[in-house]
Amino acid sequence: MSLTETEIKESIIDTYTKVASNGRLVAERFYSPEELQGLPTSAVELALGVGNPVRHAGLRPGEVALDLGSGAGIDTLQAARKVGPSGKAIGLDMTPEMIRRARANAQAMGLANVEILEGPMEAMPIPDASVDAIISNGVINLTMRKSQVFREIHRVLKPGGRFCVADMLINGELPDEVLNHPTAWTG
Ligand SMILES: C[S@@+](CC[C@H](N)C(=O)[O-])C[C@H]1O[C@@H](n2cnc3c(N)ncnc32)[C@H](O)[C@@H]1O
Repeated sequence: MSLTETEIKESIIDTYTKVASNGRLVAERFYSPEELQGLPTSAVELALGVGNPVRHAGLRPGEVALDLGSGAGIDTLQAARKVGPSGKAIGLDMTPEMIRRARANAQAMGLANVEILEGPMEAMPIPDASVDAIISNGVINLTMRKSQVFREIHRVLKPGGRFCVADMLINGELPDEVLNHPTAWTG
């Protein structure tokens, strides 16, 4: 029997509510010491991504950046530093516990230009044509509705806006026992 979208989402929220610190393993793999400097330990130790999209997004002061599936905020916080006080970094996540962590981390850094929103990336609570650059790190692989996410990305980006993603791809078909295993979906 196939997993439903609701079952997969519940499983993802459950997993990311309970996820524990991995130490600095991911952060030290993908970020330089300079990039990690000044970030709260709780953001660094909960880095769960697969790359460093902020490094390649070309963010400029004054821009609005959106981080899809922001987790504890490691990329949102770095984006906030790059767009500066005249810009804004928005983190979007559907797991309330991750929202709480990201907000606490932004507050610990004293960043007033960070907004953490709760919601699904398949139906973003964000106005049309309002974002200069979207980043995302290890998140789009988790949705069954990837085309819908790309439609939403197109909707919220301003004309000429950029999208810089780090994620996992499969190179071939997955067997049903993997496709229908909740742990395989939650990463
Ligand atoms: C692998 S973690 C990556 C977190 C963060 N990007 C990082 O690099 O540390 C995946 C995050 O995406 C969120 N997420 C998964 N599916 C989502 C969806 N459909 N809409 C919004 N957030 C989602 C999870 O709650 C989790 O915080």
